[in-house]
Amino acid sequence: MFDEIRFNTIDRLPGYVFAQINDLKLSARRAGDDIIDFSMGNPDGKTPQHIIDKLVESAQKDGTHGYSVSKGIYKLRLAICNWYLRKYGVTLDPNTEAVATLGSKEGFVHLAQAITNPGDVVVVPDPAYPIHAYAFMIAGGNVHKFGLDYNEKYELDKEQFFLKLKKVFRESAPKPKYVVVNFPHNPTCVTTDVSFYEELVAYAKEERFYIISDIAYADLSFDGYETPSIFQVEGAKDVAVEFYTLSKSYNMAGWRVGFVVGNKKLVGALQKIKSWFDYGMFTPIQVASTIALDGPQECVDEIREKYRKRRDVLVESFNNAGWPMEKPRSTMFVWAKIPPVAQHLGSMEFSKQLLTEAKIAVSPGNGFGEAGEGYVRIALIENENRIRQAARNIKRYLKSLEDSKK
Ligand SMILES: Cc1ncc(COP(=O)(O)O)c(C=O)c1O
Repeated sequence: MFDEIRFNTIDRLPGYVFAQINDLKLSARRAGDDIIDFSMGNPDGKTPQHIIDKLVESAQKDGTHGYSVSKGIYKLRLAICNWYLRKYGVTLDPNTEAVATLGSKEGFVHLAQAITNPGDVVVVPDPAYPIHAYAFMIAGGNVHKFGLDYNEKYELDKEQFFLKLKKVFRESAPKPKYVVVNFPHNPTCVTTDVSFYEELVAYAKEERFYIISDIAYADLSFDGYETPSIFQVEGAKDVAVEFYTLSKSYNMAGWRVGFVVGNKKLVGALQKIKSWFDYGMFTPIQVASTIALDGPQECVDEIREKYRKRRDVLVESFNNAGWPMEKPRSTMFVWAKIPPVAQHLGSMEFSKQLLTEAKIAVSPGNGFGEAGEGYVRIALIENENRIRQAARNIKRYLKSLEDSKK
């Protein structure tokens, strides 16, 4: 009925990449297959006990059950600012430069709603975490993409980045208003350093655009690498905001807690639009999140170490199984080129065959954008035994591909 009634926003949205993979996975499981699941960036661990205890304690109290504060209770915003001070030596004002969000995804979507005029141009490197582009498309913006260049150690090629960014600025009318950056990067695991942000902030001031940085994987860095923040650059607050999430560092993905800090104009816009859209997280969740950020941080070290071990087991055992790949120095993923014997299949067909032939779920790289074709993203959310089992399955599958070519 009412076929003539269309929803333009919905029509412009493709099926969510993870939903497509999930459908395939579900039908395989229904058919009785034990699928080893590396597809979503959904942490498999439990939230640290002291954070759960604080949630329970707060939920037992009177006065914590009503509507909360949409921009986050003051104590949480203060904890957010203290986290930045401790980790990066950056001073922020909890009233005007910080806002708590219902996970960083919600914050990202609503920030885009708040700051996008129809036709605004936004630059998002390709491939990308899908919402980095689609939040702006949903809000009526035009997204310009360019391929992210990096070396085999997953380090950003800064020179190419700025060459391509400057080309977009030369050729785009109107000029881009926002540039989205996300290092350590999902899905490619690419990392960068403070000098990159220095150049980006200087360029933003020259060309008059805002930078939206996402450091969701800030704490999941290994081998001595430390994730930089854009705010380590003097004056970055004039042109930038930065997102962080408790989902990964504290195994709190289901709790939906993230935050945005930085530029007052952008933070203020998000605070204002959120006051129309929501009443904030359940107060006990906010109280427990305050403890997560302010309390003992050994749990973060343990979570980081768990991912590092899995990364090592995965890369080493998959290499031995005949699938060459390098160890990334950050994130909870491995971004792997399709092995030579399967390259003709492309990302989607290879992912499908991994599911049906090796009982392994991964995310096809092209789901993150055209530049992801030829790759798959492997999330480190299965334990070491399951990873070793996956390597055995892959060895068998790759051998069968080789045999079929003979
Ligand atoms: C780069 C990046 N940003 C943001 C998010 C969303 O995190 P949250 O759980 O805070 O919404 C993710 C989730 O995978 C991510 O990879």
